[in-house]
Amino acid sequence: MRNFLVLKEYFLKYKFRIFLGLVALIITDGLQLIIPRILKYAVDGINAGEISGFLLLKFAFFILLISIFIAFFRFCWRYFVIGTSLKILELLRDRFFSHLQTLSFNFFNNTKTGELMALATNDILAVRRAVGIGLVILTDTIVLTIASLIMMFRINMLLTFYVLIPLPLLSISTFFLGKALHVRFKNVQDAFAKLTDKVQENLSGIRVVKAFVQESYEVYNFKKYNQFFVRENMRLVKIWGGFFPLLMLLAGVSTAIVLFWGGRQVIMNIITLGDFVAFTSYLAILTWPMIGIGWVVNLLQRGSASLGRINQVLETEPKIKDLPQALRITRPLKGTIEFSDVHFRYSKKLPYVLKSIDLKILAKEQVAIVGRTGEGKTTLVNLIARVFEPESGAVLIDGKDVKNYRLKDIRRRIGFVPQDTFLFSLSLKENIGFGNPEIPMERIIEAAKVAQIYDEIMEFPNKFDTVIGERGVSLSGGQKQRIAIARAIILNPDILILDDALSSIDTETEEKIIGKLTPIMKERTTIIITHRMSSIKNISRIIVIEAGSITEDGSHEELISHGGMYKNLYEKQMLKEKLERGF
Ligand SMILES: Nc1ncnc2c1ncn2[C@@H]1O[C@H](COP(=O)(O)OP(=O)(O)O)[C@@H](O)[C@H]1O
Ligand SMILES: [Mg+2]
Repeated sequence: MRNFLVLKEYFLKYKFRIFLGLVALIITDGLQLIIPRILKYAVDGINAGEISGFLLLKFAFFILLISIFIAFFRFCWRYFVIGTSLKILELLRDRFFSHLQTLSFNFFNNTKTGELMALATNDILAVRRAVGIGLVILTDTIVLTIASLIMMFRINMLLTFYVLIPLPLLSISTFFLGKALHVRFKNVQDAFAKLTDKVQENLSGIRVVKAFVQESYEVYNFKKYNQFFVRENMRLVKIWGGFFPLLMLLAGVSTAIVLFWGGRQVIMNIITLGDFVAFTSYLAILTWPMIGIGWVVNLLQRGSASLGRINQVLETEPKIKDLPQALRITRPLKGTIEFSDVHFRYSKKLPYVLKSIDLKILAKEQVAIVGRTGEGKTTLVNLIARVFEPESGAVLIDGKDVKNYRLKDIRRRIGFVPQDTFLFSLSLKENIGFGNPEIPMERIIEAAKVAQIYDEIMEFPNKFDTVIGERGVSLSGGQKQRIAIARAIILNPDILILDDALSSIDTETEEKIIGKLTPIMKERTTIIITHRMSSIKNISRIIVIEAGSITEDGSHEELISHGGMYKNLYEKQMLKEKLERGF
């Protein structure tokens, strides 16, 4: 239950509302307990034959009045308690999401997205149930149990003892059945998730399915998931179907005891008929908290476990964060970059991806990095923006270790076009200006022109306001990459990094883009990673990375005469291009 401590401040924030809700709840309970007393007087009166029609009408009116009050206060507690639990969870959800934003890439590298989604949905829901419904049932149970027991004791102590025998069984069976129900319900949810995943995967891959004529295999596969889903549902139905009948049975045993023992006591004149009727009503009231207690223990346990998992994420400290006296960057950087004996690996269990990297890039220098896939190029440039940190050695920008700069300042000064572009379901305008919503339209247009995407944007029905993913608007790989280039250059960064950013673009467009980018590149330090040698022929310095080490560094001519990996890659590329052009 210690897990719930994180919610303390939220509870305190809403203490007044919670208090109002609980007061309304207690009033509702109190009013409920009055009705059996009225019944007692009415029945005793009728039995003795000394009640007038007018008095009976008065009793009926009382019951009606109380019922109206009960309805009103019941609305109040639901409104306050459940409403507050929603608000508390809103705060928790916000905190969870904004905490995720602070965590480093490493965290997301090691945590599955599905797990985080489950935390943000299922676990948050479990906490909400525990907080809202749990709080209500807990209060209800305590108040109703104590009050109705007192009322029953006042009528007859012995009878109360007898009927109490089967009641704890109610709590115990609710507790255990509730647990089993939860497990099976979760299995049903999982089976449903698998089923929808299957459908989603099939639909997004429908072209591949059809191209490989795999329709019947897919149908067969779907059938299996579908059957599994039904089977899990049946397992749930078996318990769910038995749950209420069992509770009714146990409650019925108590009623039978009351009828037999209570009836005898009426006959023997120990209690009045009115007492008997009231007693039966109290018993009915008591049944609910007896079930509730078993239920609430489950809710609280589940909520606590979920909150424990959420807390674990909330307590995760971002690995990469600002030093206490982090340097602000207020003026443009010169843009020198230096790697000094950098070693890096993604985790202690994995081999080194970068080994003894020593590299100096001058201010406003243009550098191309080439190498085969998986040699460490992306990793290398990720260290510049401190997406990851070297295990040993240092990366320096303008002569200072990047660790010393404020993280958001240094990232703001680096324009980065990643290998896999990601666009948000926003308008093209918002996607290009993503780093800053106040960028004037002229600059967005300008950036789009440089990235060679302007003409194509103007052909979309809503031009720059076209929303990606809406009404079937989807972009080709090359279009996405050019949007990403526009996004990176619009903020006028001091360092521009293109990580294989032109791979989905045809050679001709690539040459156009590079031509347009050249003046922009000349004003800042630029690193271009590419596997297409023809596009870097004008770049004066080329670096080759092999297995995490720099093996060649020089101009195109130097590297060709060196006769190493670069020459090899270059010749293969030339051959490929010749073949493409048909000699
Ligand atoms: N997030 C990651 N976690 C673990 N290993 C990774 C990760 N990213 C890349 N690697 C590994 O690091 C090596 C270098 O990858 P990368 O820098 O992407 O190469 P390149 O960009 O040259 O293709 C590869 O062996 C790759 O499998
Ligand atoms: Mg790469």
